[in-house]
Amino acid sequence: YILDTEEIEGLKKYPMFQNIEDNEFCYDKKELLLKFVTLAIDKFIESKDEILAKCFKWVQLQLQMNLEIKPDAYSLNRIKTMESGKPSMKMKIGWLKEYSTLSKDNHLFTMFGKHLNKVFQRYSKSIYKKNVEKSNETKKKKTPNTLVTSSSILNKLNGEENYYIDSDSFNIFEFEKKIGKEHTLPSLGIYVLNHHELFDELVPYDKFEHFVYEIAKGYHRENPYHTDLHAADMLQSIYIYNLNSKFQTILNLSELDLLSMFISAIIHDYGHPGLNNNFLINSKDNLSIKYNDISVLENYHVSESFNIILKFPENNIFEKLSEDDYKMCRKNIIECVLGTDMTLHNKKYQTFKIRLMTENIKNGEGLDKFISKQDPINLYNLKLEFLSFIIHAADISNPTKPLPIYQEWAQRCVEEFFKQGDFEKQLGLPISFNCDRNSVSLPKSQLGFMDAIVSPLFTVFNEYFPQLSFTLDNLKKNHEYYKGIVDEEEKDKKNE
Ligand code: CMP
Ligand code: MG
Ligand code: ZN
Repeated sequence: YILDTEEIEGLKKYPMFQNIEDNEFCYDKKELLLKFVTLAIDKFIESKDEILAKCFKWVQLQLQMNLEIKPDAYSLNRIKTMESGKPSMKMKIGWLKEYSTLSKDNHLFTMFGKHLNKVFQRYSKSIYKKNVEKSNETKKKKTPNTLVTSSSILNKLNGEENYYIDSDSFNIFEFEKKIGKEHTLPSLGIYVLNHHELFDELVPYDKFEHFVYEIAKGYHRENPYHTDLHAADMLQSIYIYNLNSKFQTILNLSELDLLSMFISAIIHDYGHPGLNNNFLINSKDNLSIKYNDISVLENYHVSESFNIILKFPENNIFEKLSEDDYKMCRKNIIECVLGTDMTLHNKKYQTFKIRLMTENIKNGEGLDKFISKQDPINLYNLKLEFLSFIIHAADISNPTKPLPIYQEWAQRCVEEFFKQGDFEKQLGLPISFNCDRNSVSLPKSQLGFMDAIVSPLFTVFNEYFPQLSFTLDNLKKNHEYYKGIVDEEEKDKKNE
């Protein structure tokens, strides 16, 4: 969530926001949210300020969506009954404690309590600065340790079949359990780049490590589906597509092209709010205004990630690239991430399907010839089309994974849709496609997703790269599984 200048100016009227630099307002959603919560408890509830009202609406939305806290939990009456007089710091924590006890949600108390304390300490500019300096110092000191940890974890994993990253039945959920949530995306990132020898000549190792932990942190773990685990899954998918099909060699991709793909996968849903473009457009969210309703989230993911890379030198994974290489890499990444907008799916699918016929490509044959006859400019554009196609395929690849893995993803994805639907209902917005928990059935929606989107795309994908047949084998089994459930459900309905 990015505040515009007017909103920032509006907030700066309040003492607690006065010492915050403008760029910090868009730095970390969670921190900002917590500042608002404090403000809400403190004085906003009675405020008639229009700008605050607008911001506060967003806070309510976040609290409700992500933490399932209803507005009445922080109503003025509620607070007044707890303690009379001016709300104090102790009382704010008290409120959280009370809320946590009522809702049996200790995690909430721990999380908010800690954050509130931190946020309060930061109000003084000098303390804030000191904290930043201190954390920079510790970061510098810490880097070698994390390096050792990451590589030793990876060494350990290499030998273990169940967790083996190179396998097409790699279980990312098991991997996450073993390695820890916060290390999953970073470890896979390091593993994949290391495998392709992209360190250190192209990408400085320490910069990459810093960057990838920073990106992982910016994914909202409260989302059922769109978390850093999904980005990690996409990265591993692309990696094994290349291991099996050797698309890098066939398409004549440079190291820079490959790097662009991996970075695209890592950042491709960065900062996802758990609500889709449709919601952001219908609710007239700031982001939809900023990006004119065009690929709103996808624009946001790229733009925010480049902010992270360029604003802080310790994240600058591109510092070794020449100006031309940087430009090309950036262009590739923008193309790949913007290409994950599902409204572009059909065009991609049709282009690649028609190309099979016009260029006589079948079961992998004919692709070499097609690539080799391109002139350099065509070849560059064509490569970019392939990069974007492969990224898109990996993004919708969960029905091509072994059944238990697919089931877990499907459950998470549908839950995120339903949460959005609940919210749309409350706000009186039209309920988006597949988001109504009262009418949508998971097995049916999955059959629809496979039939309309995933099977056609992966069938075409396999004509270019037949070594990826494991994707179609899994897809077939998964389709049979969900078809079985839907048929049973319909039989039961008829009997009833
Ligand atoms: P996103 O990851 O941003 O881009 C691809 C989209 O495909 C994803 O968001 C979901 O909207 C959709 N998608 C992915 N997997 C499934 C699934 N199993 N069922 C329904 N939709 C899905
Ligand atoms: Mg996306
Ligand atoms: Zn995605």
